[in-house]
Amino acid sequence: MIKHVVIAFLVLLCLPGSVLRAQKKISVETEHLQLLLSVNEKGKVFQSYLGEKLSQYNSVETGRHEAYVPAGTNNLFEPAISVMHTDGNPSLELLFAEEKKDKTDDNVTVTTVSLKDPKYPFEVLLHIAAYYREDIFKSWTEIKHQEKGPVTLYNFASSMLHFDAHKYWLTNFHGDWAEEMKMQEHELTSGIKILDTKLGTRAAMYQAPFFFVSLDEPATETHGALIAGTLAWTGNFRFAFEVDEQNSLRVIAGMNNYASQYKLLPGQVFETPAFIFTYSADGKGTASRNFHHWASTYGVLDGDTQRTVLLNNWEATGFDFNEEKLAGLFDNTKKLGADLFLLDDGWFANKYPRNDDHTGLGDWQENKTKLPNGIGHLVKTATGKNIKFGIWVEPEMVNPKSELYEKHPDWILKLPNREEDYFRNQLVLDLINPKVQDFVFGVLDNMLTANPGIAYIKWDCNRMITNGWSPYLKDNQSALYIEYTRSLYQVLKRLRAKYAHLPIMLCSGGGGRIDYGALPYFTEFWPSDDTDGFERVMIQWGYSYFFPSFTVANHVTSWGKQSLKFRTDVAMMGRLGYDINLDKFSDAEWQFSQQAVKDYKRLYPVISHGDLYRLISPYQENRAVLMYASKEKAVLFSYTLHSRYGESFELVKLQGLDPKKQYQLQEINLEKGRSSSLSGKVYGGDYLMKVGLPVTSRNELSSMVLEITAQ
Ligand code: GLA
Repeated sequence: MIKHVVIAFLVLLCLPGSVLRAQKKISVETEHLQLLLSVNEKGKVFQSYLGEKLSQYNSVETGRHEAYVPAGTNNLFEPAISVMHTDGNPSLELLFAEEKKDKTDDNVTVTTVSLKDPKYPFEVLLHIAAYYREDIFKSWTEIKHQEKGPVTLYNFASSMLHFDAHKYWLTNFHGDWAEEMKMQEHELTSGIKILDTKLGTRAAMYQAPFFFVSLDEPATETHGALIAGTLAWTGNFRFAFEVDEQNSLRVIAGMNNYASQYKLLPGQVFETPAFIFTYSADGKGTASRNFHHWASTYGVLDGDTQRTVLLNNWEATGFDFNEEKLAGLFDNTKKLGADLFLLDDGWFANKYPRNDDHTGLGDWQENKTKLPNGIGHLVKTATGKNIKFGIWVEPEMVNPKSELYEKHPDWILKLPNREEDYFRNQLVLDLINPKVQDFVFGVLDNMLTANPGIAYIKWDCNRMITNGWSPYLKDNQSALYIEYTRSLYQVLKRLRAKYAHLPIMLCSGGGGRIDYGALPYFTEFWPSDDTDGFERVMIQWGYSYFFPSFTVANHVTSWGKQSLKFRTDVAMMGRLGYDINLDKFSDAEWQFSQQAVKDYKRLYPVISHGDLYRLISPYQENRAVLMYASKEKAVLFSYTLHSRYGESFELVKLQGLDPKKQYQLQEINLEKGRSSSLSGKVYGGDYLMKVGLPVTSRNELSSMVLEITAQ
């Protein structure tokens, strides 16, 4: 239950011919951070401060940065909001009307500032949730009006933030299929830099919705002031960074307004997605840990539930399997010590069987040739062997060669007067149509009702929107991108109302759709189809800035030329799984992997919820080292990626330990016959953090996993 506390109403003194407003400060605070807004004598709301908490703030100047700048009046730069009123007037003025504070629990307070236009019945509610213990802020808006007809929204930011620093450095994450989350950093100079996507469904395929802005100098892991931000939106996003003539920076985050002028009807509420951000005075490490702590409780479904180790068949069998083959894989799942078998693409469709990616998407009936006894039989067989069963779906999509396409051509996003444009031989369904929502919900619901034993779903999305046109929206096509994402949330909400805790992996041909708008409905995500151990060090490194490790599903596969040990060590940094032909394993490989699964399960609490410290970045050296630390235990992962001739690697100083405690070291994931020079040694936490350990071998593509236990 939300405890509603109205903190204060503005004192309005009505004097003849003018309105005087008492100046007011609105402070939004977490344990260590503060965002301070001020209302000036004219009623305008300004951002006066964002940073580490001030011991007293009465003397803080209002400043010159309006908190949520409207267009069409005296704004000279990129606005937060711009609208066209019903009468054709393109201006907006937003003045303070009211402040509320809602305490949702002992940790979360939502501050709401109501802003109204003095000339039009138009209102914007600025909401800022403060997560006290995690030092995270979440801001979003509600826009509404009571004009006579629709108002067109052109810009509709979730958040606007202002900074005054000497210099600014932007870090962003971009990529493509199989090369997600590549980190780049550059200085922001005068003008606008936009990070955005126009892809719709597989929105984050090229540009991911995450960034850091470092103030004055590029921040390191442990040094420098910065904000870290992301938009909780599973669709087109847009971040604008504008440096003005006085070297101030405004950061505007929200849904992309590309092809999305939105007609807002009187009385309708337009809610923008949340921009989630934190501030750190001491580098990126703190910012990441804030995000990890927040996500474990608020950002991801069931963050406190232990994730299962699974065996997937995609890399090993592709579309080519039958009941007998699968039964063998169930046995392998059990033998490995994994908990669950995940059946991937290829199990469905009969008129146009799904034997490759050209046919069958949309026809979600078991393929009678491959699975004559149906999913029920597979669930029963798996359960009989004491493992769980999971299954792949891609319910928002359709192949032109499918019965669904033949039956419902009007359920598909495609231009009525142009050729169909395919990506992976498929099209996107018009999820905005309630009938399509019923269908997509039904794909899951029918399967889960018929087979209540299904314990895991992989929800894929293998294409973006092109030639976007919704038969359902008719003459309101500019609502397409926004309404698609909202419709997706409708379906996911419905699914979660009925299946609250079923583990579901979020996948989009790899990491094309990973964000905190979707993750409250999902338990983990598939970061990339690229499972080459070397590449994965980089990809997982990228995700680690914003996501806790247990959300990142990593599978040991046969991609990459590294040893099984290297690939296992890499996969173990997140949620461990396998997708490899285990029948080809030697006895030694079986033993190694069985022990790795056991150790992973034993160390799950610290790997999943320990504090992450990135110690040596692969962007700076030819190696990567990171560790997870909890009170009594830490686990360190070290990878030599490449070693130059004559190169010797320095000792690595650990972090996050108790300087007063003694720690015993134990190397795990050792290949048969190998011994460790570090195992059994005991060092003080102080020594480990000030002097460090030789954890990086000079051997190319070698790795080490070190268990560090307080005595
Ligand atoms: C996508 C996924 C893969 C696999 C295939 C199946 O590419 O990312 O993991 O499920 O689809 O077609």
